[in-house]
Amino acid sequence: MGLNYYQIKKNVQSARKLVIRATNAAGSGHPGGSFSMAEILGCLFYKHMRYDPKNPNWEERDRLVLSKGHAAPGLYSSMAVAGYFPDHELDTLRKLGSRLQGHPDLKCPGVEFCGGSLGTGLSYSIGIALAGKIDCKDHRIYTIIGDGESDEGQIWEAAMTAAKYKTDNLTVFLDRNFIQQDSYTEKIMPLDENLLGDDLAEMWKDASRWKTGDKWRAFGWNVIEIDGHRIEQIDAAIKKAKSTKNIPTIIISRTIKGKAVEHMEDNPQWHGKAPSSDVMPMIYAELESQFMIAPSIIAGDMTNLENEVKRCATGRADYIHLDVMDGKFVPNKTFDYIKIKELRPLTVIPFDTHLMIDEPVKYIREYADAGSDIITVHAEVCEESSFGEIHDWLKQNQVGVGLAINPDTEIPKWAYKFIPSLDQLIVMSVVPGKSGQKYIESTHEKMRRIIPILTEQKFAGCIEADGGVTLENVSACFADGARAFVGGSAIIGKQDVRDAIREFRGIILQERRKLLLEKANNLGGAELVKKWIELHVIGQKQEQIKKIAEEARYI
Ligand code: DX5
Ligand code: ZN
Repeated sequence: MGLNYYQIKKNVQSARKLVIRATNAAGSGHPGGSFSMAEILGCLFYKHMRYDPKNPNWEERDRLVLSKGHAAPGLYSSMAVAGYFPDHELDTLRKLGSRLQGHPDLKCPGVEFCGGSLGTGLSYSIGIALAGKIDCKDHRIYTIIGDGESDEGQIWEAAMTAAKYKTDNLTVFLDRNFIQQDSYTEKIMPLDENLLGDDLAEMWKDASRWKTGDKWRAFGWNVIEIDGHRIEQIDAAIKKAKSTKNIPTIIISRTIKGKAVEHMEDNPQWHGKAPSSDVMPMIYAELESQFMIAPSIIAGDMTNLENEVKRCATGRADYIHLDVMDGKFVPNKTFDYIKIKELRPLTVIPFDTHLMIDEPVKYIREYADAGSDIITVHAEVCEESSFGEIHDWLKQNQVGVGLAINPDTEIPKWAYKFIPSLDQLIVMSVVPGKSGQKYIESTHEKMRRIIPILTEQKFAGCIEADGGVTLENVSACFADGARAFVGGSAIIGKQDVRDAIREFRGIILQERRKLLLEKANNLGGAELVKKWIELHVIGQKQEQIKKIAEEARYI
């Protein structure tokens, strides 16, 4: 399909919502393992795999084998978003006569493997891979196995076989979420090392305890280890796998079971359980309010931007915000596409390029070629035709499209027709030109004015708050509707970027919890609020959420 980063993210969100809808309608199913592999499926279905939903048996198609077949709702949902069948068919999950059975079945067009009897999908994939080679086909085989599934001896027989037969057209993802049906994998049959306590964070903190990669390397595989929820890392790993010859590749993807819904995350209970109808509105709202942090490197050492990019990477930024100023649209000059090109090899984190330049249409190709993942241009220097050209060209080249408006600019009428396909809208909360300025308070009111217009015009992108965003006002920006947050002086200006980002995330998370509690209270009063709180059984979440509810006098 070849979508850009932002579109993939959006599709993954839609697929997760369908998983909730389907498992709720069925009253059973596996949301946890569907969510841990959601981004992997997103990158495969919406960027890398070759297929035709209208001709599912097309011979040249790439094959996806879901060996951990119990996560079928995740597969079906991604397939629905890809166009294999309408969303409402998900309501038939696990029903008699449905094509969408509890474990994938070949009678569903597009399904390649009757998964579910764990351990067998990898051997089956090797068969397809070898057949492809004998037939001189260039299609690829992608297989997803689970870590619980890795208890099966057949996985390791297959591991030997694939290496022996050099199936380099086969790429395996290990969905390493550390949880299987009964408990944590490291308690049942450790792939890494024994889990000592009950806190999974223990395994995340200490990479020296990760032994799974060594096992696969010893079996003769090309091993790539990634964060399995980072689209850019999955994307880069798939590209590497494609270019690796004579040896099969396994991408060990560290994931979180139940990812994106707080009460399901890292909770073994959600391996195989359906959400109830009354909590669905909160779950949907939660999925719709995922957020991103984008440090702005101009707030750092302008003579060593390479180091600023590295600080963003070690700080685990979601995007890197690149403020390009030309000395014409704004008085200052920062850097241009030549610098961006130099910075690009340093990280795979998406580049969020904010062009504060005159006549952006003239330079858009250079900024895209330099490696921007999204390019935002200012409404003040565009009109319908030049923005149309920018919009179409970026979309065709898999780059996200953003529009920015200055504090005293409203969304121009000519831009309305582009709103449904905009990936991002930057609502400036300082007069553009430099970092370190004070947030303009009237932006909150402006946001309240803009949101109804965006809703009416079917905006499906992300609002980015840019300028003077701090720990003090970021929750208000979230409450306004922003979901991406640029941090110049408040993040890059700090000595410890990682700490600053962690603090930002913590505050926004609290605000999101507030929003969800408010929803619960509106829909079902104290009873639903209590039920929502009680779902959060892992770690300290329950007490923290309860405190917010008490402060708001919901309970
Ligand atoms: C302003 C830029 C912002 C700014 C962010 O012209 O677009 O990205 O540098 O820096 P702070 O967060 O310090 O305002
Ligand atoms: Zn900016």
